[in-house]
Amino acid sequence: TIVVLDFGAQYSQLIARRVREMHVYSQIVPYTTSAEALKAMQPKGIIFSGGPASVRAEGSPRPDQGVYSLGIPILGICYGLQVMSIQNGGSVERPDKREYGFADLNVLNPASALLKGIGQNSRLWMSHGDSVSALPAGFEHTGSTENCSYTVIENKEKQFYGVQFHPEVVHTTEGKTFLENFVLGICKAQPNWDMGSFIANAIEEIRTKVGDKQVLCGLSGGVDSAVAAVLIHKAIGDQLVCVFVNNGLLRKGEAEMVLKLFRDNYKIRLQYANAEEAFLSALAGVSEPEAKRKIIGKVFIDTFYSEARKAGEISFLAQGTLYPDVIESKSPSGGPSATIKSHHNVGGLPEDLKWDLLEPLRELFKDEVRALGRELGLPEVLVTRHPFPGPGLGVRCVGEVTKERLDTLRDVDAIFIDEIRKAGLYHDIWQALACLLPVKSVGVQGDERTYEEVCSLRAVTSEDAMTADWFRFPADVLQRAASRICNEVSGVNRVLYDITSKPPGTIEWE
Ligand code: XMP
Repeated sequence: TIVVLDFGAQYSQLIARRVREMHVYSQIVPYTTSAEALKAMQPKGIIFSGGPASVRAEGSPRPDQGVYSLGIPILGICYGLQVMSIQNGGSVERPDKREYGFADLNVLNPASALLKGIGQNSRLWMSHGDSVSALPAGFEHTGSTENCSYTVIENKEKQFYGVQFHPEVVHTTEGKTFLENFVLGICKAQPNWDMGSFIANAIEEIRTKVGDKQVLCGLSGGVDSAVAAVLIHKAIGDQLVCVFVNNGLLRKGEAEMVLKLFRDNYKIRLQYANAEEAFLSALAGVSEPEAKRKIIGKVFIDTFYSEARKAGEISFLAQGTLYPDVIESKSPSGGPSATIKSHHNVGGLPEDLKWDLLEPLRELFKDEVRALGRELGLPEVLVTRHPFPGPGLGVRCVGEVTKERLDTLRDVDAIFIDEIRKAGLYHDIWQALACLLPVKSVGVQGDERTYEEVCSLRAVTSEDAMTADWFRFPADVLQRAASRICNEVSGVNRVLYDITSKPPGTIEWE
């Protein structure tokens, strides 16, 4: 294991990912973790992340001083380098010249283990106001840039290393080599983390934790819950019961696909609740987006719990929680943010249902979950499916949600996705979706006047859904989608393409 000590950096997760890309397991822990707790994790090395604070500010984050006496190699990145310098007797100042963006590395000591294979003038990516102004005793500087003398520092004897730049971002051309030099070279971590060993471990853990008890898992049709269910099923077979709620807000053919996959291919015990009626009647006449979300969330929970009561004696609730969700709630910088939309997840449990949580994916990133899904034999269409919101088409049927409008939207969505797949663009897009707008427009078809609804198509590229840009389609793809939609879907006579980025737009319309 390589432990990443998180000082609230934007990039902590990226550091952990880079390490895992070398097939070494990496875990992020808050900077407040005690030296004793760190030692108990038996890491081969520790990486101090960057962070938004200034080490010169009073009360800025400091790791336990004991971390320097564990005999474990440390790499400090940006803020991490500065805090390491200060705690070992160096000093940090704010020079006149700050460095944001690219800089070229001047290698001062090519024999440094951290600089092995790194060329002269290698391109670095910097983002800092403060700089180390005096080295701690026992340290030497092995690399510099035009505006920063102490860009790379080390205490070879203690195996403490520090870099002022960010090796984890792609803008640092040889970033991967720096990190490999530390992780594989200096720490001598074994590159033996892969999905095969993950599955074997996870199965052991699930069996130990669950014993002879029963586990309930909600399936959504998305990749996370599907992978969690198949993994748990592999571990405990029929002790797993899955519940799939059809809320009437699913995409075309989605319920059938999920049922077939889990019943026929995996022989997983599956309770199917067709709750379309309940959802649509609760939504009748409602068009305010937050009101819709709350209703959908509430009916979902009611349906899910009444299914759960039918499932017999349940001790665990399985969820497809991923690593980013776990980290976000723990990061020192992760303060409360404004509620833009109420996301719907299974919330507070009713009194009579006392479940423990089983979250077998809580250490994985999304791309690792996809790799795991493949390893478990899940079909590629499911593993690579675009994200789909919990409230489903309910938040894409802008305005009032009716069965008729949902059927129209399902047809529009299916054509749009089909054309994207035919053009070979599906995997270049983070998410593609269609919305039905509460607007009618006049058209002409076969010499007849039409007066029908308008739909909008949206496709975005994104890294993590926090920001997004609209996808630049070749015009003929949009043309084919638009003409098929107007010809094949009754009730729609006009198609728009949404070119709003996020921000200021959000990905979904509601
Ligand atoms: P927005 O519209 O906020 O969406 O830019 C960001 C990402 O989150 C998805 N989304 C949801 N996912 N429950 C979910 O599980 C929800 O209530 C929900 N609302 C939005 C959205 O599809 C996009 O990927």
